[in-house]
Amino acid sequence: MDNDFKGLVAIVTGAGKGIGFEVAKQLALHGASVIMNDIDKDLLQDASDRINALGGGITHPVAGDAGSIDLIQQLVDEAVQRFGKLNIAIAIAGITLFGDFLTYEQKALESVMNVNLQGSFFLAQRAARQMIKQGSGGSILFMSSVTGHQAHKDLAAYGMTKAGLEMLAKNLVIELSKFKITINTVAPGATLTERTLEDTDYKDTWSRITPMGRPGNVEDVANAVLFLVSPKASHITGQHLIVDGGWTAVSVSPY
Ligand SMILES: NC(=O)c1ccc[n+]([C@@H]2O[C@H](COP(=O)([O-])OP(=O)(O)OC[C@H]3O[C@@H](n4cnc5c(N)ncnc54)[C@H](O)[C@@H]3O)[C@@H](O)[C@H]2O)c1
Repeated sequence: MDNDFKGLVAIVTGAGKGIGFEVAKQLALHGASVIMNDIDKDLLQDASDRINALGGGITHPVAGDAGSIDLIQQLVDEAVQRFGKLNIAIAIAGITLFGDFLTYEQKALESVMNVNLQGSFFLAQRAARQMIKQGSGGSILFMSSVTGHQAHKDLAAYGMTKAGLEMLAKNLVIELSKFKITINTVAPGATLTERTLEDTDYKDTWSRITPMGRPGNVEDVANAVLFLVSPKASHITGQHLIVDGGWTAVSVSPY
């Protein structure tokens, strides 16, 4: 295992399980100090303990709603107080509320927008302010989705937020490049996580329609994330990286 992230401090939201957990784990295993966030306090504590038991870097849990601006500022403050600085901010918390467009309710739309867009927007803003204060650059990453590229049944609201995140990343290149802060997105296709595996047909369906013959796993997505927030990607900004086994290239619908 290399130590690419030794001496670097990161925030990862939605890190209690799934892709967020894997990203936090990989960062720590590569030497980073990580502020982990999740809305589920017990799940988060357990996740942080499990990573700390592996050795490598250290994680610290801060529970709360990643759509809340107060919580976001707390994450940044905690990174600085506990680990002295902030180098990397990764917004992974996101919610997927399926629903027919014609009956979709305002409450559902607000929840999706609040976590996926507002949370990511203000994590980028508060992290960037801290990075600018430090004066040594940084990297920010949003978790998008192939549904921000390809229309997907019952995911109008969710897909809209993910497409919005990719535009936000492009736009922020204008403001953040002069501070040597990169901002990118990773767009996973169907990925096996605790949540998606609740659908018992998920693995078979996506194995059938994904050109590479299988859905993604959390390591596939974390590998892309770690590259984009690493010093090796310091000249890559405003980009999206799709990790979908070729699905968007052919776009076979599961329906
Ligand atoms: N799994 C997939 O197939 C897939 C595909 C494309 C994109 N994504 C995106 O990847 C991200 C992670 O998805 P996943 O399936 O790994 O995880 P998930 O949806 O199971 O959620 C992971 C964690 O996020 C936490 N969370 C939910 N709302 C939160 C909030 N408001 N504040 C803080 N934490 C919160 C949950 O408690 C959970 O522990 C999401 O942004 C999702 O949209 C996932």
